[in-house]
Amino acid sequence: MMDRHPQNLLVTGGCGFIGSNFVRYWLERHPESRVVVYDKLTYAGRQENLHDLWEQPNLSLVVGDIVDGELVRRTCQEQGTDLIVNFAAETHVDQSILGPLVFTDTNVRGTHVLLEVARELGLRLHHISTDEVYGHIPEGHQSVETDPLAPRSPYAASKAAADQLVQAYHITYGLPLTITRGANNVGPYQYPEKAVPLFSTNALLGEPLPVYGDGRQMRDYAHVHDHCTGIEAVLLRGEIGEVYNVGTGREMTNLEMVDIVLETLGKDRSLIRHVTDRPGHDRRYSMNVDKLRGLGWAPKYDPRQAVAEAARWYAGNRWWWEPIRSGEFREYYEKQYAERLAGTGRA
Ligand code: NAD
Ligand code: DAU
Repeated sequence: MMDRHPQNLLVTGGCGFIGSNFVRYWLERHPESRVVVYDKLTYAGRQENLHDLWEQPNLSLVVGDIVDGELVRRTCQEQGTDLIVNFAAETHVDQSILGPLVFTDTNVRGTHVLLEVARELGLRLHHISTDEVYGHIPEGHQSVETDPLAPRSPYAASKAAADQLVQAYHITYGLPLTITRGANNVGPYQYPEKAVPLFSTNALLGEPLPVYGDGRQMRDYAHVHDHCTGIEAVLLRGEIGEVYNVGTGREMTNLEMVDIVLETLGKDRSLIRHVTDRPGHDRRYSMNVDKLRGLGWAPKYDPRQAVAEAARWYAGNRWWWEPIRSGEFREYYEKQYAERLAGTGRA
């Protein structure tokens, strides 16, 4: 298989969790290439996620919305972009339940705008999707890339709509498009609204860990590093027009994940609180990742190591999350958890 080598990347959402890990990984591995991060800098987009890299001459930032086609087009033309990697999205399921419309704006319309720019300028586009598009997966099955999409939250529905636009643009216009569908990523710089950083930082602060329902939902907790290597494999060797699942292929329950976090941080299980469940909560995600393995890729971390490593990162990087936790995040936290935690012992 001959590797393709994109040189000028436009990485949308590159100040977010996975996007920033990808930019760091890509620049380490491909120092000859240039990366322009295109990011709206929402609450989840943080320049400090790339704090040590902004001085590099081959990295720059354009602050903008992916819905703004004119700015995306101009940026791609000025920068000589040959590949768009689209990480930009509203990403939190609970936020999509509280305020769903922005998920359609960014995840559906924003992706559509990027496809239009790619069509106009003849660019390759790689779209970052999620295992949530497959919906709840019954025991005994692992999702394969050709499975029907059955999203069940406003977030998942918006991601499924984006996937279908990408596939339709490949079929209709023959554009060079690819998709990866990632499992639950964990690792450095994940905004603490998500379960692993929320539980890690709550444990470090001595606050209760709000586990939704019985905590027996199953997730494939994959290290973000392995997501980045999977995306790289598809960019270099993936077949155009194809979809690739990226995960470890192994799940654990949320309660098992919580135990790993507590054990890693030396905290007690008495911090666990079972609280009112997320509406429409998908019970299990599980993906078959053989197609990506066929490109010579393999995950480095198993899920237990991935969760433990992530928890350790939050213990060692208070500088990153303490300002978030004491700022605007508090308002969201109150709205999401105050009532849920009231009456469970300690709020
Ligand atoms: P994140 O919420 O940490 O970051 C999202 C980034 O997108 C932020 O930098 C934000 O500022 C930017 N953004 C949001 N709206 C924008 C807009 N309209 N225009 C430009 N930039 C915008 O998200 P993440 O967890 O890093 O997820 C990145 C991608 O990976 C998303 O597409 C998500 O659906 C997908 N994904 C995430 C996971 C996971 O476990 N976190 C798993 C699989 C797939
Ligand atoms: O599966 C991939 C998806 O993983 C990505 O597409 C999403 O962008 C990302 O947010 C993540 O979605 P989840 O909803 O699975 O992740 P979250 O971290 O929010 O929750 C993980 C599990 O933990 C889930 O079963 C819900 C549960 N949970 C979550 C929170 C925030 C709790 O029990 N309590 C909580 O407070």
